[in-house]
Order: sequence, then structure tokens, then C-alpha cells
Amino acid sequence: MLPEEIRTLFNRIAPVYDQLNNELSLGQHKIWKRMTVKWSGAKVGDACLDVCCGSGDIAELLFNRVGPTGRVVGVDFAVEQLAIARQRNPHITWQEGDALALPFAESTFDAVTMGYGLRNVINIPQALKELYRVLKPGAKAAVLDFNRSENAWVRALQQWYLGTLVVPAAARRGLTAEYAYIAPSVERFPTGAEQVNLARAVGFSAVTHYPIAGGTMGVLVLGK
Ligand SMILES: C[S@@+](CC[C@H](N)C(=O)[O-])C[C@H]1O[C@@H](n2cnc3c(N)ncnc32)[C@H](O)[C@@H]1O
Repeated sequence: MLPEEIRTLFNRIAPVYDQLNNELSLGQHKIWKRMTVKWSGAKVGDACLDVCCGSGDIAELLFNRVGPTGRVVGVDFAVEQLAIARQRNPHITWQEGDALALPFAESTFDAVTMGYGLRNVINIPQALKELYRVLKPGAKAAVLDFNRSENAWVRALQQWYLGTLVVPAAARRGLTAEYAYIAPSVERFPTGAEQVNLARAVGFSAVTHYPIAGGTMGVLVLGK
């Protein structure tokens, strides 16, 4: 898909995005997002960034973590998603921007998160390079997404889940094509081990990929 098509897709699903996430993960995505925020190392008083923030739930978890002395920015290129994020929390800075060319100076943030964004960008090494650039030395980023497991059973379970539960639920809202893209995007996504190699190649020093949720999801933790 072209970047413009990806942006259009996420603008179109914005009104149902949160509701579908809750329904389809039985609320579990909130647990995975809390783990991601914890593994980013964000703490009271920090300046934090959530890339591909969508409707803003991870940024809000960061906001609660850093407290009134901290600062949180959420970046996304889909303005309809940002409009929902703004309603969620007007105290966070919601900024339109591209994950492949982040609108920040180098070494700006103490912690960075990204949820279900890396699989959607058209240039994964460039996105990782940008996370590296905007992090302060010694800081961490945590990147949550589907895990392309090397276990055939996990892959079969994922494909069944996406084909049997996710696409029909989206179809009931007239969004079949918008959710049918997820399965092929997971098939194309680098495995955890491949992501570790890509992250090392752009300069990250301490890199670990943690499979979670029975191996169906993964969190890539990146230390600069
Ligand atoms: C699946 S949603 C994830 C939203 C949220 N982070 C979450 O975990 O629920 C992916 C988001 O990435 C955004 N996105 C994709 N490519 C992007 C890019 N190159 N720059 C900025 N945002 C991008 C989309 O607009 C969309 O809001």
C-alpha cells in the first residue's frame, strides 16, 4: 500500500478503532500496551513520545506515568485519529507527522513507544532510524505489534483469529478491506530475530524482542 492509502485507511476506521480493539482482544490490548509503556522505561518527569499514536491510548498511559512534571507528545499522520486522541486527553500534545521523518530534533526524548505502527510503515529501517535519532543517549523505545511467530501453531491461530473473528467483525461495520490487510501485513512483518538485527544495524546497542500473549504479539525493546 502507498503511504496515502495507509493514511486514508486509518482515517476511515478512526470512529470504530477503539471499540473494535476492545471487542476483538477482549480488552487484552490494554495489558499489552501497559507492558510496552513499562518497558520503555518512562518515569516521573520524563519527556516521552508515542509514534503512530492513533487514537492515543498508549500516549495516555505515558501521560499517567510521567505525571504533571513530565511531557507527552503523540504523533500520527491520520488527522481523524488525532481528533479522537485530542478528545481523549487535551493535555497531551497531539501532532500530525510522519514516523519516517519525525518532526523533532535529535536526542529529545527520555522514552518512546510505538504500538501497531512498525508493521504499517513502508520503510521499517527508516522508522527505527528515526526512533534512534529522537531518543536521548541511554534512553529506550518499546515497540508493540503482532509477532510473526516461527511456530506454525501460533501462526495458524493468528490467521484463524484474523480471518474468522477480526474480518467478520469489521465487515459488520462495512470495513472488510480495511481489516483484511492485517493478515498479509503480519505475513510480511519481520520476525522478532529479524527486527533485532534491523535495530542493531541502525545503531541500537541493547535490543531484545519479547514475544507476549502466547507468542501472538511481540514487544521490541530498544536501548540507545
Ligand atoms: C494500527 S494503528 C495503531 C494506533 C495505536 N498506536 C494503537 O496501538 O492502538 C496504526 C497507526 O499508525 C499510523 N501510521 C501509519 N504509518 C504512519 C506514518 N508513516 N507516520 C505516522 N503515522 C503512521 C496510522 O495512521 C495509525 O493511526
